[in-house]
Amino acid sequence: MAARGVFVTGTDTGVGKTTVAGALAAVFSLRGADVGVMKPVQTGAPKRGLAPDAKFLRIMAASRGAPELVSPVTLRLPLSPYHAARAEGVDIDVERIGAAYGKLARRHDLMIVEGAGGLLAPLTREAVMADLARALGLPLLIVAHPYLGCINHTLLTAQAARAAGLDIAGIVFCQTGRRGFPEPDFDFIEEQCGAPVFGLLPWQARLTRKSLARAAEECLDPGALAARLKALSPASRARQKSYERRDKKYLWRPFTQMKDWERGEVTVIESGKGVTLRDLVGREYLDGHSSYWCNLHGHADRRMNGAVAAQLGKIAHSTLLGLSNVPAVDLAEQLVALAPPGLTRVFYSDNGSTAVEVALKMAYQYWRLVEPAGKRDRFLAVRDAYHGDTIGAVSVGGIDLYHAAFGGLLFSADFVPAPYCYRCPLGKTHPDCALACADLVEQALAANEGRHAAMILEPLVQCPAGIITAPPGYLARVREACARHNVLFIADEVAVGFGRTGRMFACGHEGVSPDLMALSKSISGGLLPFAATLAAERVYEAFLGDYEERKTFFHGHTYTGNQLGAAAALESLRLMKERDVIGQVQEKAAALAGVLASFHDLAAVGDIRQRGLIAGVELVGDKVTREPVPWEAKAGVRVVEEAKRRGLIVRPLGNVIPLFPAPAAPTQIIRRMAAILRESIGAVLG
Ligand SMILES: Cc1ncc(COP(=O)(O)O)c(C=O)c1O
Repeated sequence: MAARGVFVTGTDTGVGKTTVAGALAAVFSLRGADVGVMKPVQTGAPKRGLAPDAKFLRIMAASRGAPELVSPVTLRLPLSPYHAARAEGVDIDVERIGAAYGKLARRHDLMIVEGAGGLLAPLTREAVMADLARALGLPLLIVAHPYLGCINHTLLTAQAARAAGLDIAGIVFCQTGRRGFPEPDFDFIEEQCGAPVFGLLPWQARLTRKSLARAAEECLDPGALAARLKALSPASRARQKSYERRDKKYLWRPFTQMKDWERGEVTVIESGKGVTLRDLVGREYLDGHSSYWCNLHGHADRRMNGAVAAQLGKIAHSTLLGLSNVPAVDLAEQLVALAPPGLTRVFYSDNGSTAVEVALKMAYQYWRLVEPAGKRDRFLAVRDAYHGDTIGAVSVGGIDLYHAAFGGLLFSADFVPAPYCYRCPLGKTHPDCALACADLVEQALAANEGRHAAMILEPLVQCPAGIITAPPGYLARVREACARHNVLFIADEVAVGFGRTGRMFACGHEGVSPDLMALSKSISGGLLPFAATLAAERVYEAFLGDYEERKTFFHGHTYTGNQLGAAAALESLRLMKERDVIGQVQEKAAALAGVLASFHDLAAVGDIRQRGLIAGVELVGDKVTREPVPWEAKAGVRVVEEAKRRGLIVRPLGNVIPLFPAPAAPTQIIRRMAAILRESIGAVLG
């Protein structure tokens, strides 16, 4: 396998390339890597012996490469390589340098190659230093001196690198004299160059291997640099290409126009830690939507992983048909204890749609059992609602874009307008409206007295509809209306459950106890597909009867009550308590609100909605008239693409960009996520 490596270039001569290359050689070799060094072209070299820069690098790396490999071209005049070579009547042979590099690279784990001058320093009449870096297949480390003007020089070098098709591993500043300068704006430079700044190496009075390695450890984040080099190595890039090709060849992904997908670049996530995701080529992203609204405690959390591993050591899965299992029982008991009062029974499944489907079928069969002659076969739902993608869940869904294609397959349901205050379907304004939208629920139930089996609602926030937050009191009014009309009330807490809104369940904000409650997503802390439908005792009891009566709930899934999912859910509940996740949500929600408030300055931001750590920013074409951005303008898509370039993963819901961070995200990271979103909206829409 070819060695990983880096080509150290500078924004100019005399900016500290050799010191930085030496510091890297020292730090990585002292960390245990077998480091090879190379100074392919040395001008101003002495007549005999190894040129001083090459000698220095070899000492720093404690490596013994042959001089003709470490420094294959030495020229005496202190000119550009091309001009020095011309003065000596020789030609620089890039292929010969490549062959020397190849020999060294085969012997070492990591190659540090120091260029001469800057990227456009001429090597021959036709080739410049950037061509050599490309011929060696190495990413660049740009060294700059932190004097006034360094931003300009750094950005020019980055531009030249991009124009030459070179990857930039990163940027390092190096103080080359005793005189100090203020630290350049690293964030700005990173953003403009699209590459990390690893730090500033301060002036080094002594250049010993140990002292340089220590300085590099302290100031240059060698761990991050090593990870970046690994990711940019030929092997990583080949892997990325292979996954991209096979992804496009074999996968068909949800809610995605695959024709667009096949044209785009594919980000392949390889690992995650905390709220950071890392792709195959070492790029890192903040997980701004907690991996679609499910990750609670951060990725690769030691405790969560440990709990699943411990369960795996016992058993991964045995059916709940005819058998019970330990974590499924323990979890059911805990869910009942935590759920709103009155929910006493737990029916497991494996995703949000099935949790909803189970609730709908339970409600339907419940009425068949308690009122055999009755006609309760209709469901009441809310416009813009989304409850999942199985046929029952789609039937009570109100997002035409997702649901229209399946019209012929669905059972008909009744819909009331969404409690969408920013675009009130009734043309009213909260609070003067006195919750007229809740009155419509009452009216719809009254108009079909005795016909509705259940009403289904996402309590507090209709997340997939675009983070539509219901006005206070709406939930309680809907619940009361259902009770008055003897209609079962189903709370779909798939997205909002488990602390996201600042309470364990959103129903808790308004003291609501549903008859049925659908849970999934965060239930397993975001580790495994797992779901539960909780039912009130009266619903459960209606299904009790003699075997021949066929009152059984004839529904089930293979992985119902799966032990791994249940073990993850139990550990997640334990951690929620130990880490005071709900308290953290309340505190962090305030910090998030602080940054979101500043979004109002942006011309394209019409509304900002938030409940706990669930937030949504609605983009508009005209702030005053609230004219939506035309669908074809793909405003949401463009903003999230920009956010991704800036290191934040979010997904648009039409013209709304949700920010749905895991409660485990530190406050400053949540602020950073919001700041990136703000910058991205500004960059795309002004
Ligand atoms: C409120 C709500 N209900 C149900 C679902 C469906 O869950 P799943 O995607 O796990 O089937 C979702 C998914 O986003 C949801 O947000």
